[in-house]
Amino acid sequence: MCGIVGYVGRSEAAPILLDGLRRLEYRGYDSAGVAIVNGDRVETRKCAGRIAELGKLVAERTPAGTFGISHTRWATHGKATDQNAHPHFDASGNLALVHNGVIENYQALKEELIRGGDTKFVSETDTEVLAHMIGKLYDASAPTNGSTPPQHEKNRLVAAVRVALQQVIGTYGIALVHRDIPDFIAGARRGSPLVLGVGKDENFLASDVSAIVAYTRDAVYLNDFDVVAVERDKFEISSVAGERGSYEVSKVEFTDEDIKKGDYPHYMLKEIFEQHGSVRDAMRGRLSLEECTAKLGGLEMTPAQLRDVGRIVLTGCGTALHAAMVGEYLIEQLAGLPTEIEFASEFRHRNTPMTRDTLVFAISQSGETADTLGALRESRRKGYRTLGICNNVASTIARESDGGVYMHAGPEIGVAATKSFTSQVTILALIALLLGRMRHLSTSEGTVIIEALEALPEKIEQTLKLSDHIRAIAKKYIAAPGMLFFGRQFNFPIALEGALKLKEITYLFAEGHPSAELKHGIIALIRPEIPSLFIAPDDAVFSKNLNNVEQVKARKGPIIAITSGSGAERLASVADDTVTVPSAPDFVMPVLTAIPLQLLAYHLAVELGRDVDKPRNLAKSVTVE
Ligand code: AGP
Ligand code: GLU
Repeated sequence: MCGIVGYVGRSEAAPILLDGLRRLEYRGYDSAGVAIVNGDRVETRKCAGRIAELGKLVAERTPAGTFGISHTRWATHGKATDQNAHPHFDASGNLALVHNGVIENYQALKEELIRGGDTKFVSETDTEVLAHMIGKLYDASAPTNGSTPPQHEKNRLVAAVRVALQQVIGTYGIALVHRDIPDFIAGARRGSPLVLGVGKDENFLASDVSAIVAYTRDAVYLNDFDVVAVERDKFEISSVAGERGSYEVSKVEFTDEDIKKGDYPHYMLKEIFEQHGSVRDAMRGRLSLEECTAKLGGLEMTPAQLRDVGRIVLTGCGTALHAAMVGEYLIEQLAGLPTEIEFASEFRHRNTPMTRDTLVFAISQSGETADTLGALRESRRKGYRTLGICNNVASTIARESDGGVYMHAGPEIGVAATKSFTSQVTILALIALLLGRMRHLSTSEGTVIIEALEALPEKIEQTLKLSDHIRAIAKKYIAAPGMLFFGRQFNFPIALEGALKLKEITYLFAEGHPSAELKHGIIALIRPEIPSLFIAPDDAVFSKNLNNVEQVKARKGPIIAITSGSGAERLASVADDTVTVPSAPDFVMPVLTAIPLQLLAYHLAVELGRDVDKPRNLAKSVTVE
């Protein structure tokens, strides 16, 4: 959470920093700020609210200068106020610092600084201790005999960063500038992402390459405990412990064009409408009709190792966990392997009994989710082979896992995950096919599965054509105080996902349940104002679903049904509204049924005037626990 951008070059820093922040706004939007060094002053502008507010402040009095840092905040410690907005300063006011993460022992460090006597805190943040600590260490190391060469000042600042960070417990991505050190930014990371953009006579620091891809596509993805000293024409990477670091310059996979909204009013809608392509890309080159199986070289496992897997654990958070839940049905049905779902946040802290032959998958669009990363590390620490299913190829989870499968869905900017979900489900289907074909699935069964998968992109395109019909349904329920979602089997996780989408972007209460759970309590919520959405495709459990629909109808609850095939006809007398997606085998149906739910949440949020791409209190990439 939170976005950091730093710039050092020959151009004016302010527009570059603001432009970068706008591209990172999806990461957090409680407050924003910049600090730019202008001769003998560090000029700062910061305020609570969106980047647009900061933009106004900067436009009123634009700080001049060719190096600086900036931040868009997702508050963890302290309210979303002007005072708590980053950058934060040391006691001298000469050092400005921005931070992404949480300093867990900030209270103890703060008390120590206060006891020291000369430190006054102006914010409630955990971050401010870092600014004070580094500033104090830097000042204390000043030579007593007058001025020193500039390189010496840079080394002193980097040394102060190291010493301060050695005392910190928690996570950080930081960037800082000092009034007395021209054309210089220092940065460091542990647990929060930080990337160095390598330009021509200019360099950048950012939480995510999307902030800088308009300026350079050469990037160095920093590792935990890296400390970086960045100048216009060079940079140096070392570790918090002071060792020299190695690095690799990578080419960013996407361009600036890929992260533009185009003609769409929102990123979320753009990303929903990209799903036929993103699902196709998730399968591209990975299906073999010849061998009737999936080819997933990234797993880095031999056929013998794959055959020896006895149990699967799928872990992730939010939407990724819902994809994992579909994965559980897929792997159990197609491969017959016992599969467990674990909330990453729980899994990392509990001692789950696991057999030696367990294979763990950490699923994450961003590849930076702190809880999922924690689960991955804990699982690897215990010696389990742990694979990643990530979209962001340069992410920490992708880099730290023993192998995995990239989603290739392209950048997902809308805070509500959409295309990443259908890509994750598609990849889990490939994994299920691969594992199944190493066990009981015959070649003809493999072929049927491949055909069902290959038919998906076209069926997604047909499903997307339902958008206007779904908008009309959304308008009808604009006054609903909440919504219930029900589904069975493969579509139970879709009920959870539909409810999550609705909650996060409309702020309405929503719950998802297995349809049959209705009678075990939820039915008490049924009343004419609360619509119930049933995901009831024409599958083996259709008539069971229909019973539950009738139970709601009998209690005057309005019904929206997502169905397929002859389902619409059979639901005609009970459902108030039906949305018919193309027919498909049950195991690929979730990819289709998820889409009307994404569209319903989207249209309802637009009708309600919500900020679809940046819903309140949320951030795209949750890099704190
Ligand atoms: C989904 O709409 C949410 N914004 C959220 O639940 C998200 O899926 C979750 O935070 C996990 O993110 P990740 O896939 O980047 O790890
Ligand atoms: N913990 C810091 C704060 O609350 C940084 C949060 C962030 O990552 O945006 O200000």
